[in-house]
Amino acid sequence: MHARAGSSKFERVTSAPASHEPVAIVGGSGALGSALALRLSLAGVPVLLGSREEQRAVEALKRIVTLIGPRMDDHPIQLSAATNRNAVDQAELVLLCVPFRSHSETFTNLRPHLRPGQLIVDATVPLAAAVSGKATRTIGVWQGSAAQQAQEMVPEGVRVVSALHTVAAKTLGDLNHALAEDVLLCGDERADKARVAGLLQRIPGLRCVDAGPLEQARIVEQLTAVLIGINIRHRAHAGIQITGLPDAAALWPEHPNPQEDVR
Ligand SMILES: NC(=O)c1ccc[n+]([C@@H]2O[C@H](COP(=O)([O-])OP(=O)(O)OC[C@H]3O[C@@H](n4cnc5c(N)ncnc54)[C@H](OP(=O)(O)O)[C@@H]3O)[C@@H](O)[C@H]2O)c1
Repeated sequence: MHARAGSSKFERVTSAPASHEPVAIVGGSGALGSALALRLSLAGVPVLLGSREEQRAVEALKRIVTLIGPRMDDHPIQLSAATNRNAVDQAELVLLCVPFRSHSETFTNLRPHLRPGQLIVDATVPLAAAVSGKATRTIGVWQGSAAQQAQEMVPEGVRVVSALHTVAAKTLGDLNHALAEDVLLCGDERADKARVAGLLQRIPGLRCVDAGPLEQARIVEQLTAVLIGINIRHRAHAGIQITGLPDAAALWPEHPNPQEDVR
């Protein structure tokens, strides 16, 4: 493993060559972003962990490296800390993990760094907590959903897939927790959703399900508020499983070797 500290752009940990295209995580210092960086890094995906402040990204990277610990010896880790802008400059796949209250501001700031061909994976939930309301309620978004707001704000040629709303950061970030849950993907292009499934299904125990066009995000984003209520009542970190589906290989024939079915 090579650990490079104090570079002008970012701190970096590299232990093997890449086996996937790099992924930028905007809001990588947060609960969901850090958990994704942890699991994706272990799955061999090069991750550019972004923050508004490079130092916060470096701190998050150090926490993740500590969690990975000795697993570093037999996993090809490629993890870099960067500003959100530098991260987005270096990746065609961008995971957006920021609170709804900063959603539109984040797109305004990142817009000059977005370019045609990039794919945004938006996990944002418009929880009422963004306006001092309850986390078990959502607020209305004029466009229909946060994901549709994102699609309206990105430059021409950048597309959005909505994903990950039902995956709890707590369990995702706990390597002792064996995941076994579904991720609903909403997007207007099947190829985009297949690309996202190809990324997220590298995380053992996550199965992606095509949940329809981006406008369906207005329903899926609401599920988080329901799950938060369930979690409060049952002191749990609940996810979802869709029953009655064919196996993962049939769900995503675009990926000839999908991971074993999580059921
Ligand atoms: N947590 C979960 O279990 C979970 C599950 C599914 C979906 N989600 C959704 O995923 C998104 C992220 O959730 P989270 O729990 O990870 O949130 P979080 O920890 O509160 O925040 C994530 C990151 O967003 C950045 N951020 C905070 N305020 C910002 C602002 N005003 N402008 C720009 N960036 C700001 C911060 O990074 P820097 O300060 O370093 O820039 C922060 O570390 C939310 O929309 C949430 O609804 C969360």
